[in-house]
Amino acid sequence: MTKRKLRSEAWFARQDKMGFYYRSWLKNRGFPQDQFEGRPVIGICNTWSELTPCNSHFRTIAEHVRFGVLDAGGFPLEFPVMSLGETMLRPTAMLYRNLASMDVEESIRANPLDGVVLLMGCDKTTPALLMGASSVDIPTIGVSGGPMLRGIHCGKPIGSGTNVISMSEQLRAGQITLQEFHEAEADMHRSHGHCMTMGTASTMACMVEALGVGMPGNAAIPAVDARRNLIAREAGRRIVELVQSDTKLSEILTREAFENAIRVNAGIGGSTNAVVHLIAIARRIGVKLSLDDWDRLGRGVHCLVDIMPSGRYLMEDFFEAGGLPVVIRELARHGLLHENALTVNGRTIGENNRDAQCWKPDVVRSFDEPFKHDSGIAVLRGNLAPDGAIIKPSAASPHLLRHTGRAVVFESIEDLNARINDEALDIDESSVMVLKYCGPKGYPGMAEVGNMPLPPKLLKRGITDIVRISDARMSGTAYGTVVLHTAPESAAGGPLALVQNGDMITLDVAERRLHVNVDDEELVRRRAAWTPPASHGERGYVKLYVDHVLQANDGADLDFLVGRSGSAVPRDNH
Ligand code: FES
Repeated sequence: MTKRKLRSEAWFARQDKMGFYYRSWLKNRGFPQDQFEGRPVIGICNTWSELTPCNSHFRTIAEHVRFGVLDAGGFPLEFPVMSLGETMLRPTAMLYRNLASMDVEESIRANPLDGVVLLMGCDKTTPALLMGASSVDIPTIGVSGGPMLRGIHCGKPIGSGTNVISMSEQLRAGQITLQEFHEAEADMHRSHGHCMTMGTASTMACMVEALGVGMPGNAAIPAVDARRNLIAREAGRRIVELVQSDTKLSEILTREAFENAIRVNAGIGGSTNAVVHLIAIARRIGVKLSLDDWDRLGRGVHCLVDIMPSGRYLMEDFFEAGGLPVVIRELARHGLLHENALTVNGRTIGENNRDAQCWKPDVVRSFDEPFKHDSGIAVLRGNLAPDGAIIKPSAASPHLLRHTGRAVVFESIEDLNARINDEALDIDESSVMVLKYCGPKGYPGMAEVGNMPLPPKLLKRGITDIVRISDARMSGTAYGTVVLHTAPESAAGGPLALVQNGDMITLDVAERRLHVNVDDEELVRRRAAWTPPASHGERGYVKLYVDHVLQANDGADLDFLVGRSGSAVPRDNH
């Protein structure tokens, strides 16, 4: 089959006691002797779980990858890893992203694998698998699970998350009934797949394709479309060839690939969560990506896709319009892409997408007549965020992008929940809501609570957005003038912890500035009186996480996981 020495030969080519162990226990599944003689062994890394509804069809996708591996003469072996269901896990799936990445890394390295296909869908499963695989660096292809079909409620399209937020606010304002609220739950999610807005899952699927680690067209094919199975089979065939040519993941995940992904993120109006995930993945593979790269590369890039949460359409429409290849083609035509970046199908990203066609120009616009101008993530700095904070201007209200207002401070998420519905809350549309202790260490896990709900007293007056600032993240399906990922976080002693009710805060996105108008001496006095909150990490993984998690600007990885340990074969068990 192949002349190249395979990593798996350290297991299966041995003609001794250990070789017997390695082969014999697999032969119980009917694998004949020739299966162990020179065939690339391909791991199919599966995040199927009933507790991860977005990945519930992954057994089927895994079978199509398996067929592809067999087609090409490889030896497929599927294995499970920790799965992260965004809707189920508490306090937040993000707390466990790094744990799942450790599972992936160690499972790949410890087993007789020559290449791996990663099956990823729900938000955190994509970065977790890419981070783990990056730290091993064997030939790798990502296959995304695909988005759900569009939600339909009362004859109108509704989108994952985005309409949950708007409908829950309508319910709180008494504008819809509880019965209608319940009916919308089934109307919204009516097929296999992940969230079908341009939330974090769709964004990360686009990142997989833009990074070149997924096959062309990977991002937008709906989960239940037969072409999703075709691309899985193609990936199964292709990974065998990548092993034969010894094309490691690090040859795909180059600095150029990450720079492409950052610009594609702006081109799709992607989730703010991509910032923290791409930095973490890059640093695993050895690329020093930073917040400044996001700000620099995103400038001047326009959002081309009219999709929720910022727009009208959903991922199914995006697919029918031509999908991500159209966006990549447009960026390339305007000199905004490293066209020579290699992708897993053996061609460059420029070659893959040069001839992409747009079938629905109202869904995917041209660069010259974009959906929104200047949609890159903006990185803010100032005395409130010395290490940076981010905002997604394309999801914000234009009139609030330069704003000074009076701080209304919530000391915790519980404090927010206890007071937000209070008619006596002293807040108006010029106020700036500040939420503390929701960063990586503080929550713990940096929950998606940054898009704080607005007080009903403002909603009833038709006010749908005010400036909100926190060290938390925001769901990719959310929107608003929301400053996120403030670093250092308040639980680590960042200046956010020192803000008090009534302080005047200035947000100036054009100037990239986030400033609390309190003099330095007063901040020093407040710092001397500040005491850190009690740690959430008493034992086990949560203690490990709280003790070692990096700040958001460094990707919120665990400090000892940054970088690669490689794919050297571990010593024997006997
Ligand atoms: Fe899984 Fe949105 S909840 S992708």
